[in-house]
Amino acid sequence: MILTDLINSDAVLEWYHQHGRHDLPWQHDTSPYRVWVSEIMLQQTQVSTVIGYYQRFMARFPDVRALAAAPPDEVLHLWTGLGYYARARNLHKTAQMVCEQHDGEFPQDIDALIALPGIGRSTAGAIQALAMGQRGVILDGNVKRVLCRYHAIQRWSGETQTLAQLWQIAGDTTPQQQVAAYTQAMMDLGATVCTRSKPDCPRCPLQTGCQALRLGIATQLPVSKPRKTLPKKQTYMILLYQDDGTVMLQQRQSTGLWGGLWSLPECSDDEALSAWLQRYGGERADQWPTLRHTFSHFHLDITPVLVRAGDAGSCLDSAGSLWYPLDHSLKLGLAAPVKKLLDRFAGQQREHLLTLQAATPLTSGQQD
Ligand code: ADE
Ligand code: SF4
Repeated sequence: MILTDLINSDAVLEWYHQHGRHDLPWQHDTSPYRVWVSEIMLQQTQVSTVIGYYQRFMARFPDVRALAAAPPDEVLHLWTGLGYYARARNLHKTAQMVCEQHDGEFPQDIDALIALPGIGRSTAGAIQALAMGQRGVILDGNVKRVLCRYHAIQRWSGETQTLAQLWQIAGDTTPQQQVAAYTQAMMDLGATVCTRSKPDCPRCPLQTGCQALRLGIATQLPVSKPRKTLPKKQTYMILLYQDDGTVMLQQRQSTGLWGGLWSLPECSDDEALSAWLQRYGGERADQWPTLRHTFSHFHLDITPVLVRAGDAGSCLDSAGSLWYPLDHSLKLGLAAPVKKLLDRFAGQQREHLLTLQAATPLTSGQQD
């Protein structure tokens, strides 16, 4: 299943001894209780914020029995500002379950740990590795990022198969010895070197085997959840042009899509298009292939229709219209696909002119 070499855990450990974090408050007196509380706090909150909360929490609730006996309000009070308050409620509930069902000792078994509220597979692995001397395996956000990059995994980790593959790799990579140091090292590496937006590969102990670095795609990984398929809408955009090289634009309403920008007249279907052509008496000259413009919430498939204006005056019946010169001498805000269509049309007109000139026998005065 794994196509490339595993991470060298020795290199990770060596880096950790020199560059890792060694004096975070939860790295002292590493009991399951202390590690558990720190892991829950660190789930959605960064280290610098957690430190103060952790110290106050430990001062008030030094062990699992103190926490289990506390009034819920007091637990929540010490959590105020950390957010995600379900974490605090689960913490309290788990403390009570540990006291009632496990005689005040956290269970060693992974399944028993995962059965406690708020403890997932990675948190259970961290408690085992950091506080129980076991070969626990973690796969938190930091480790996922490092593994996805190191092995150039270009699939979203939320997919069942990809997640299973990551757990497999995480398990295979975890060494037999120094598991606590290795676990802390991988978290630190992800948090300080292989960061989300600025991986510092020149200072990374994994640079020799890292496939994302080799392929130059580190910042593109890990890939995020694929967006669900967007609905499609279709429209005709009418390039109504005059022989003087101007195209009719209309200003859009100030609210909504492309609010206040200048755009081409639109018709939503064939019927509306026929009615429009009849009303303005234009001559349908050409149709271009459909182009797609994607908004955050739908695709707009635009079919450009070229119409040569008949009686120019009849088109300017509303205040929000003008004849736009293709040389862009008029500075207007244009919707992106409209700009693209106008540029293409201008290019076509230039070619058309050149063809006309080439077909006309040159007189001396026309040479340039
Ligand atoms: N994030 C999750 N667990 C952590 C730990 N033990 N140290 C630093 N950051 C972490
Ligand atoms: Fe991350 Fe770069 Fe290290 Fe690869 S070499 S694991 S991308 S920091």
